[in-house]
Amino acid sequence: MSIVASWLADRSLGRLLGRPREEVTTEHAVVVLHDVTKRYPNGKVALREVDLVIPEGDFVFLVGPSGAGKSTLIRLLIRDELPTSGHVVLDGRDLARLPRRQVPKMRRRIGVVFQDFKLLQSKTVHENVAFALEVTGTPRRQIGPAVERVLALVGLTAQAEHLPSQLSGGEQQRAAIARALVHDPRLIIADEPTGNLDPLISWEILQLLLRINDLGVTVLMATHNAEVVTALRRRVVALEEGRVVRDELGGAYHRAD
Ligand SMILES: Nc1ncnc2c1ncn2[C@@H]1O[C@H](COP(=O)(O)OP(=O)(O)OP(=O)(O)O)[C@@H](O)[C@H]1O
Ligand SMILES: [Mg+2]
Repeated sequence: MSIVASWLADRSLGRLLGRPREEVTTEHAVVVLHDVTKRYPNGKVALREVDLVIPEGDFVFLVGPSGAGKSTLIRLLIRDELPTSGHVVLDGRDLARLPRRQVPKMRRRIGVVFQDFKLLQSKTVHENVAFALEVTGTPRRQIGPAVERVLALVGLTAQAEHLPSQLSGGEQQRAAIARALVHDPRLIIADEPTGNLDPLISWEILQLLLRINDLGVTVLMATHNAEVVTALRRRVVALEEGRVVRDELGGAYHRAD
């Protein structure tokens, strides 16, 4: 951890974030990637010397062409993969040094949302969300109220007893977001969450993610949705061939020049 700690103390942090050094405090960084390179076993280098700091409460769009490394970066954050070199730090913990038994607890601090929703087809919306708590041994009496709370937040109370096949794509994604939220995560990571949705429904999902961000949850969203990124003017981190080529507050999907 000392390498990361000393790097965090370095003045380059403010520059990386594009904001004054004084505003950046290390204990409020939810995500830190320091000099991360990821080479897959077949030799493909998917990330090269990536530096990224995401402070608590940020809303970050991760953009870049297909194959740029967006999903790889997300896989490192959920510890599906380990970096070949460099450090991936979540909530102050270097994921490569995390004892195996602590991995599930760390994963619960992150809610993950995918393009294809990944709902269990034989379970209702309520059961899908409840299942996330059951597998982590949450006491039964806490599960019902927690599920109802997140279903209300995403506007699916009326559809709680529906199966995924009885829902629209937007509703299925909202159910997946409810499931991602039910552990009260510090960070929501969404990999192309609007990739299967039409423009209007994509906006609904974005509004929901923005509301969740307003509630204090940090959001990292990988997307090809140029319209949404450019309209919202949030922080944009752009990858190309595994490198961060732009990290801009209030950015558009495409580089300004
Ligand atoms: N398991 C793997 N083994 C080998 N190479 C991989 C593996 N996963 C991804 N890659 C390669 O790494 C590079 C980055 O892939 P990644 O999935 O991170 O890109 P992406 O930015 O998410 O692309 P997309 O926008 O298409 O989802 C690509 O060249 C891809 O082929
Ligand atoms: Mg991807």
